[in-house]
Amino acid sequence: MSRYRTQLPRADLIDQAVETLRGGGVVAFPTETVYGLGGDARNASAVRRIFEIKGRPADHPLIVHLAQTAEADAWAAAIPDPARHLMARFWPGPLTLVLPARDDVPRVVTGGQDSVALRAPNHPVALALLRAFGSGLAAPSANPFGGVSPTEARHVRASLGMRVERVLDGGPCRYGLESTIVSFLEEHPRVLRPGALPLTALREVLGADGIEIGQPVQPSTGPVPRVPGLLPAHYAPATPLEVLAPEVLADRAERLLAQGLRVAVLRRNPGIRRALRLPPLPVFILPARAQDYARGLYARLRQLDRFAFDRLLVEAPPVEEAWWAINDRLARAARGSPQEANGT
Ligand code: TXA
Ligand code: MG
Repeated sequence: MSRYRTQLPRADLIDQAVETLRGGGVVAFPTETVYGLGGDARNASAVRRIFEIKGRPADHPLIVHLAQTAEADAWAAAIPDPARHLMARFWPGPLTLVLPARDDVPRVVTGGQDSVALRAPNHPVALALLRAFGSGLAAPSANPFGGVSPTEARHVRASLGMRVERVLDGGPCRYGLESTIVSFLEEHPRVLRPGALPLTALREVLGADGIEIGQPVQPSTGPVPRVPGLLPAHYAPATPLEVLAPEVLADRAERLLAQGLRVAVLRRNPGIRRALRLPPLPVFILPARAQDYARGLYARLRQLDRFAFDRLLVEAPPVEEAWWAINDRLARAARGSPQEANGT
């Protein structure tokens, strides 16, 4: 049996979770990307509790999760054709769309903005919960702000523990990386966050030239960080982390060891590639294929935090489109390291 077997919804647990949500409570639930921390998106006090539990600044908007495409019109004031095409093709799935918000969408969900992020997750437990609840669930990733997203129910329990009323267990997440976010607030769709849905998939629907990449929609000079998932420092484990090209990794490891630091290395499965001449230190391996690497990355970073190494040296993955979201998260994790990792 695969370690990544998805668990199916249990009707009694879904009923209890819906009761919690109706009472304004918060429920952690699995999606195909990462676990979410969900509350009734129409209930301002439930949404405020999510921010509180997560320790997230109030101006950082949440994604509203829906059971089906038809519900999007209850949240978005306008849905351009290309957005409808993406929904038709990829929902339910790891794609979030940022659209102009209807006036009745509580601004606590949108961080005060006039846009709302929508996504229909593709996980049997998430879908059962959303269908039974019958309305949108606001849900950020179920981790303390700035940290590594949870890809298993036990990660949620370990980092948010008693603060969450319920944690639904749906097994390990199939993708292990957050959804791809595409904004429709400008003339052309723009990818705000690379994620589990690859760029090639977006191009199939929008055309090769139909999509802008990177750079937040809003001028970066504004006081509000519009896409906190794109903060330079985010997704960071507790262990200071550096991402290094294979050819400099061994030297760097030697230097840090010489300073008396406890160092570990995280490599992509080297396969037949030439072995690095590393000094004696713990080496951890992630799979060679991008999809498999992504699925295991966050769980591995969490596990390594438990060893409390002084420094984790990550062998840089290839600079290829298939590795885009992974490279993005690793870069942010490095910049979010609790110490100035690159200073020594
Ligand atoms: O895969 C995912 O997207 C997971 C699962 C639980 O669905 N959720 C997730 O949520 O990663 P969170 O809150 O950790 O990241 C959502 C990102 C944030 O960077 C947020 O700023 C951005 O979505 N976002 C939400 N609403 C937005 C809006 N109106 N405009 C621009 N960005 C928005
Ligand atoms: Mg997050």
